[in-house]
Amino acid sequence: MNTNTNKNISEQPLIILESLTKDFTTDAGINSAIKDVNLTINAGDYISIAGPSGCGKSTLLSILGLLDTSTSGQYLLNGHHVHDLDVYQRAEIRNREIGFIFQAFNLIGDLTVLENVALPLSYRKMKKAERMEIAMHSLEKVNMAERAKFYPAQLSGGQQQRVAVARSLVVDPSILLADEPTGNLDSVNAGVIMDLFDELNEEGRTICMVTHDTRFAKRSRRIVQLNDGVLC
Ligand SMILES: Nc1ncnc2c1ncn2[C@@H]1O[C@H](COP(=O)(O)OP(=O)(O)OP(=O)(O)O)[C@@H](O)[C@H]1O
Ligand SMILES: [Mg+2]
Repeated sequence: MNTNTNKNISEQPLIILESLTKDFTTDAGINSAIKDVNLTINAGDYISIAGPSGCGKSTLLSILGLLDTSTSGQYLLNGHHVHDLDVYQRAEIRNREIGFIFQAFNLIGDLTVLENVALPLSYRKMKKAERMEIAMHSLEKVNMAERAKFYPAQLSGGQQQRVAVARSLVVDPSILLADEPTGNLDSVNAGVIMDLFDELNEEGRTICMVTHDTRFAKRSRRIVQLNDGVLC
């Protein structure tokens, strides 16, 4: 499937969610994290998802990023029903098209900063030296090249977040999904990341960002609000 936005902007929406619902079954019963969500995202959009803690933002982003599945409803990605994709097709799309920045970084402690950033490239037929060169370039974008040989535990929270951003960009994704990308950054570094997002969107990449920060939400083209799993 080609979800490429910057080179081939198609007429149809990139993402269509119809009556999307996500239920978690716990000992306490069924917890509906996402309720009947309808959302259309066009190629090249830059949208922010806002809402209080626990309202379902990370759950929605995980479904958009093919990291989780909905309980019911439809998810069409570039016209294809995501439910019809097998596990390999999902992994392929995730690896080629989607950059994901997790709320909790998810860096691997045993790998250096450079190795962490290069990791998504290991699924490509590419020589190690080339992978490392691309990873270093990605680190330069977030001003972290000088920490390439450090391990995640040797970095501040904000620095780890910048490495996580570099890792999400290393595959040159057409869709960037970011869960609170500035949540652990001081205002200077948060500004660096937001400027980078502006650039990435101007290049044609589709960005969907969860943020509590209204200053940054306003820099996107569209803000949607989630409240208790319901999109307003
Ligand atoms: N694996 C899970 N099992 C059961 N319930 C879950 C699971 N993951 C999330 N939930 C529940 O789904 C709801 C939404 O969680 P989610 O992490 O999406 O919220 P959020 O909006 O990202 O919150 P925050 O702003 O604090 O990150 C919460 O009530 C949470 O308890
Ligand atoms: Mg969250």
